[in-house]
Amino acid sequence: MPADAHSLYEFFYTSQLDPQTSPTVVGQILSTARPHNARMGVSGLLVFDGLRFFQHLEGPRAALEPLMGRIVGDIRHQDVRILHEGVLLQRRYHRFDMGYAQTDDLDALAALISLSGVPAVERFLHMRAGFDIQA
Ligand SMILES: Cc1cc2nc3c(=O)[nH]c(=O)nc-3n(C[C@H](O)[C@H](O)[C@H](O)COP(=O)(O)O)c2cc1C
Repeated sequence: MPADAHSLYEFFYTSQLDPQTSPTVVGQILSTARPHNARMGVSGLLVFDGLRFFQHLEGPRAALEPLMGRIVGDIRHQDVRILHEGVLLQRRYHRFDMGYAQTDDLDALAALISLSGVPAVERFLHMRAGFDIQA
């Protein structure tokens, strides 16, 4: 295993709900994600506007990379675009295996896609204060 496999890593991506899939699938996703993430030491936040997902994931790189591979291959969503990934010094979501928030601020979310990279992550973290997060 490479020396940095245990170092903290983060992914921030956006995707679209598969058009054949009901928005109620979020409940199933969370009920799988939460125990998995707790076991793997992964934490983060999933935001859904009824059409588009934004997810910020953090945890040991050795756990996060295969998880991201599974998520990319998940047929319940499509057009997965990784806006940022990289080494992380400190966790941001200690409290959540996978926090969840719904929002109808479509414009603010759309702006994140055009930002991408670290500025997109920073804007998302700033928006977090306005989310009603279910842990
Ligand atoms: C938008 C979205 C977010 C997801 N987030 C997670 C997550 O944080 N943790 C997780 O284990 N699975 C998550 N999943 C589910 C994974 O894609 C996958 O179904 C799950 O890890 C089980 O994989 P397995 O059946 O290969 O064990 C997510 C799926 C979608 C569509």
